Amino acid sequence: MAALARTGGVTRRADARPQLVVPTTHEGAARLEAAHRTLLSDAERRAEPFLKTAYRFATAAYRGSGSTDAADRVATGLYVGNVVASLAAEGELDAVDAQIAVATLAQARGEPREAAAFDLYRMAVASPFLLELPPLVAAELQLKLLVQLGIASEISLWRGEGGNLDPFVVLGHGAESRRARATARAALRRGGTLSLVGGRALRSVVVRRFTEPCAAIVARVQAPVDRVDAFLTVAAQALTPVLERELLLERSAERERILVSAGEQRLMRIGFDLHDGAIQDVLALGADITHLRDQIYPFIVDSHRDRAAGRFDDLLARVVELDRQLRELSRSLESRSIVSRPLGEILHREVDAFIERSGIDATLEIRGDPESLTSAQRIAVYRAIQESLSNVKEHSGASTVEIRLRMRRSSIEVRVVDDGQGFEVGRALARAAQRGRLGIVGIGERVRMLGGSFEIDSAPGGPTMLTFALPRVVPDDR
Ligand SMILES: Nc1ncnc2c1ncn2[C@@H]1O[C@H](COP(=O)(O)OP(=O)(O)OP(=O)(O)O)[C@@H](O)[C@H]1O
Ligand SMILES: [Mg+2]
Repeated sequence: MAALARTGGVTRRADARPQLVVPTTHEGAARLEAAHRTLLSDAERRAEPFLKTAYRFATAAYRGSGSTDAADRVATGLYVGNVVASLAAEGELDAVDAQIAVATLAQARGEPREAAAFDLYRMAVASPFLLELPPLVAAELQLKLLVQLGIASEISLWRGEGGNLDPFVVLGHGAESRRARATARAALRRGGTLSLVGGRALRSVVVRRFTEPCAAIVARVQAPVDRVDAFLTVAAQALTPVLERELLLERSAERERILVSAGEQRLMRIGFDLHDGAIQDVLALGADITHLRDQIYPFIVDSHRDRAAGRFDDLLARVVELDRQLRELSRSLESRSIVSRPLGEILHREVDAFIERSGIDATLEIRGDPESLTSAQRIAVYRAIQESLSNVKEHSGASTVEIRLRMRRSSIEVRVVDDGQGFEVGRALARAAQRGRLGIVGIGERVRMLGGSFEIDSAPGGPTMLTFALPRVVPDDR
């Protein structure tokens, strides 16, 4: 549903919207203001935050580029481009919105729609709102905009070498056809633009990495060919950094897998050592105590028997508890189950065990589908929450803790907040490190290894809030 046209259930067409009036004499950012007012007046409530963010951005650009009429034009283009990009990034943009954005920009700057559409596309595909998304999602949105702007009816992006071409993005019925594949292959071989005559035309353009062709866009034409070619050229340039990032992610994913598996293997070893060493010793200790009890029982005088039996029962109960704790620890060190079982399930289990162990009230909220995380991300999220909870139990004196896991389009966010006594972060971490205590440092390292950011916010008196975010490398299903 269109986010930029709120008309009581009926979507008003872009053409039928009220005319936008821009004052003729230049006064401040008149075009930008007019464009922002028109979009705001007709937008759905959910679109408002995006309009306001883009407006703040554009106002800064207006001032920064000299506060003249020319600056106003630049800022208006940037504004509409960022509105389109941010709505697209949230999955809130449809073709009607794209047309409304074009009409608004054209009216605000008093220029033909073709010029406005081209500039808008240029701005939108270079917008940070799009580029911060996982590469596959960014590429798809960049190309989808060509369909929404009425430039192409079908579009595909092909990657690969020699005979092996893979469709990286496919939009529209038949976009993956044999003819599209052949067109992409021919474009990559020749390294230029070509058209296939016959039926409706397909146009193609190559995306270059440095100077070498690395991918090809194939589009089924829906506008005059010159226009299509111009848009495709912009698309190809905008895709270069996106594909480059995809390549880097693939490489670092490989490195990350190696690092993570080395770390996890070490933990697993400790788990096994615990199981084969300490846990077996505890079992033997239990057996010895029982044996001792049976041996000395006959020699205890009647009047002391009950007390002695009670003491032995206490000792045995403590051994059983120690055994349970060590087993739980040993199990939690094993990462295979973290990867193979649903993350939501193991986190809930961890939190339940924490409540039982600590008597602290804990809540876990998961928004979005956590199953779209990579293995390394799942392990990092699980271990970080595990360590945070262990800190809450050991150091905070809290009565409640809230854990929240949130899947966003471009990131995965985790927050753990406790209402305990808090601490002076810098000092405590330095002291902990001197004693070889590396819980929090370890969380930070794991998160950074996956390209994320980590923060811990606390002060004496509390509360303590630990947050971290990991970049999404796999798109979710939204
Ligand atoms: N939730 C919290 N509330 C209060 N203090 C905390 C909290 N989390 C951590 N701290 C303080 O920060 C210090 C460092 O924590 P960190 O997890 O790095 O080490 P540790 O828990 O002492 O040892 P380890 O985790 O290696 O067993 C702790 O010793 C404690 O003083
Ligand atoms: Mg700790």
